Amino acid sequence: MGAIFSGVLENRDGILHIDGVSTIRLAEEFDVPLYVLSENRIRENFRRLRESLLKYYGKIRIYYSAKANTNIAVLKILADEGAYLDAVSPGEVFLALKSGFQPEKILFTGTSVRDDELKFLINSGVTINIDSLSQLKRLLNFYIPKILSVRVNPEIGAGHHEHVITAGRNSKFGIWETDVVEAYNMALEAGVEKFGIHMHIGSGILEIEPFLLAAEKLLKIAQNVHEKLGLTFEFIDFGGGLGVPYRPEDKPLDLNSFAEKMLNLFKCRIEEYHLGKPYFCLEPGRFIVCDAGILLTRVNTLKVTPFKKFIGVDAGFNTLIRPAMYGSHHPIVVANRLHEQEEDVYDVVGPLCESGDILARDRKLPKVFEGDLLAILNAGAYGFSMSSQYNSRPRCAEVLVNKGKYALIREREKIEDLLRGQLIPEWLK
Ligand SMILES: Cc1ncc(COP(=O)(O)O)c(C=O)c1O
Repeated sequence: MGAIFSGVLENRDGILHIDGVSTIRLAEEFDVPLYVLSENRIRENFRRLRESLLKYYGKIRIYYSAKANTNIAVLKILADEGAYLDAVSPGEVFLALKSGFQPEKILFTGTSVRDDELKFLINSGVTINIDSLSQLKRLLNFYIPKILSVRVNPEIGAGHHEHVITAGRNSKFGIWETDVVEAYNMALEAGVEKFGIHMHIGSGILEIEPFLLAAEKLLKIAQNVHEKLGLTFEFIDFGGGLGVPYRPEDKPLDLNSFAEKMLNLFKCRIEEYHLGKPYFCLEPGRFIVCDAGILLTRVNTLKVTPFKKFIGVDAGFNTLIRPAMYGSHHPIVVANRLHEQEEDVYDVVGPLCESGDILARDRKLPKVFEGDLLAILNAGAYGFSMSSQYNSRPRCAEVLVNKGKYALIREREKIEDLLRGQLIPEWLK
């Protein structure tokens, strides 16, 4: 379990505990599948990132990227830590406001944004990060904000899978370099007074190099805007994407080296390009919540064929879609047999009627029995937030733990919830 374990996970007499709470107890009390999140680990991740950055520069902002995990208890913890927030939908803005984030601390970075959504954002008072000239024109027709940011495509993308690379020639995101000056000029002429500039190159990046290359490009573009239009920036946002190791061979991102190299580059260029003293911003989602969460699921079926040993569990890609969607690897442990040697190789499969409903292939585990409890680790990011009711399976519950205490933070959906909002037309009655 070693390096993958984040310090809040413990082996107590062969039973997996998270932040002092037995996973067996949680499974019995709340049933499974169940997401369990550690409050302490969320706080710790936020703080170690903040401290690493502050070592090199005083004006920093960390926007927690809500899409990774939008549970309002998680948002509340991060609001309490002093985080800013990256939202990509009116729904995320709504949840952030409900969880205690001030509108000034929310940056909205949407793509393909509708007019009614723009009006919602204006009324909410959040800062808008423009993704296209179309969005900018429509926004300025409705309202002239005091501050506006522009998402730039720095042409350098990176990430753990092609679906999560968000910059480069094939990317739908951001404004191309050739249109950036025009975008700021439109805003300036309309009366916008303050500006930010932004990029987000992708997700799950464990090397520093792509961040540095893209940051260099973004800063160069910022210089060009400054030279052409004379404006300076309140903030420069380098996006999220800080990776977390999932596979045993993955090396964690060297946080100190990341902070040192990014901020040295930043400080050097803002001085060289006369960009003033903007805030240095990051937008991590995964880095903050990934290793703070686990997914508990119970073995209901063992099936042996001439070719495979299948472990059938009650969580499928309706609960955790990352393995099916990205081929992602999540560490898995048998939560009630931590002291036993790994001796068999299994495919861990869910209950959905899809051949792609596989949580892990060819995974070495201790001998598994029906009734055993599996813990899928590193499930705090893009777990529940990407879950669905596919195959008409109600979404699962979430629990927050904190040094031996625990509380339900999302109720398990009931079977009746599947009917919510559905209507039968008159002529079928
Ligand atoms: C604009 C933006 N910022 C931040 C993030 C967070 O990425 P991560 O969770 O990899 O840090 C994303 C994720 O897709 C994003 O689209």
